[in-house]
Amino acid sequence: TRTPVTVTVTGAAGQIGYALLFRIASGQLLGADVPVTLRLLEIPQGLKAAEGTAMELDDCAFPLLQGIDISDDPNVAFDGANVALLVGARPRTKGMERGDLLEANGGIFKPQGKAINDHAADDIKVLVVGNPANTNALIAQAAAPDVPAERFTAMTRLDHNRALSQLSKKTGAPVSEIKKLTIWGNHSATQYPDVFHAEVAGKNAAEVVNDEQWLADTFIPTVAKRGAAIIEARGASSAASAANAAIDHVYTWVNGTAAGDWTSAGVVSDGSYGVPQGLISSFPVTAKDGKFEIVQGLDVNEFSRTRIDASVKELEEEREAVRNLGLI
Ligand code: NAI
Repeated sequence: TRTPVTVTVTGAAGQIGYALLFRIASGQLLGADVPVTLRLLEIPQGLKAAEGTAMELDDCAFPLLQGIDISDDPNVAFDGANVALLVGARPRTKGMERGDLLEANGGIFKPQGKAINDHAADDIKVLVVGNPANTNALIAQAAAPDVPAERFTAMTRLDHNRALSQLSKKTGAPVSEIKKLTIWGNHSATQYPDVFHAEVAGKNAAEVVNDEQWLADTFIPTVAKRGAAIIEARGASSAASAANAAIDHVYTWVNGTAAGDWTSAGVVSDGSYGVPQGLISSFPVTAKDGKFEIVQGLDVNEFSRTRIDASVKELEEEREAVRNLGLI
């Protein structure tokens, strides 16, 4: 039998945690033949609810689940972790400025990055879900100098999946027929969902759509503002779809992308496409042998260039702000 993979989930008692843990334990994160040990990290107020979730996990009698540990200490929760899903974050509350939000999250992601640096397994893979995801990932990465920077990623897979679904609705093609979509930039309202390299049933998606107005005025804002639309409709932020995207992100990272396709993920920039080195920005990526690689050599047209630049500028401003706060 295989040795279990240790998966640490922060914010385990939250709504994404509740939608995520059962899927990890059932084998959907890594594969149906990979045993897992779960480590749940919560703040003290969240521990009791996390224990309740752990009781329900027990009651599922998942054959792959080898154990569950719960802690409010990052040094314990990340000990030996092979995969870390950083979901718990400080949400923006009324009257909170962006600087306050970045500072509050720095207080979470900096110590977690250090704990990962000091205690995680050598093959640690980190996905940051908690917002502002890209900059939280940057803060954690900067606090973990002994871990290769590319092991820190931010989630834009939910945006990617939302874009797939919208394009499927528009063209009538099933999502399985849509390839090579890209989310560029920040997981925020400035993100840029790009269909110019995408394919719908083997044809260029932009040509199939043939409606730049729809792209600019409907598709892009619908994808970028979907989170707010879900809150408006459901009275709570997206949780099951966010958990689903986290599963997709890690599954792809570990098991690879299909030939002739790619996905989107926030990864450390190597300077590709004019994105300043070191920023954690969303790119088109392939995955192979447990590594993401930025897809190279794509033509970026004027329509795309302006939008990528605007989102990257926001990431640079966030980096500058956390630098000034001494968080990186
Ligand atoms: P939630 O408020 O239901 O749960 C968050 C949990 O994190 C709470 O149980 C809280 O006690 C815990 N927590 C807070 N600080 C912590 C710390 N320092 N260590 C461990 N746990 C901590 O929130 P929900 O709905 O589960 O969302 C979590 C995050 O995911 C939010 O930041 C949200 O904005 C973000 N999100 C990101 C998406 C993306 O596409 N990247 C999509 C949807 C949500």
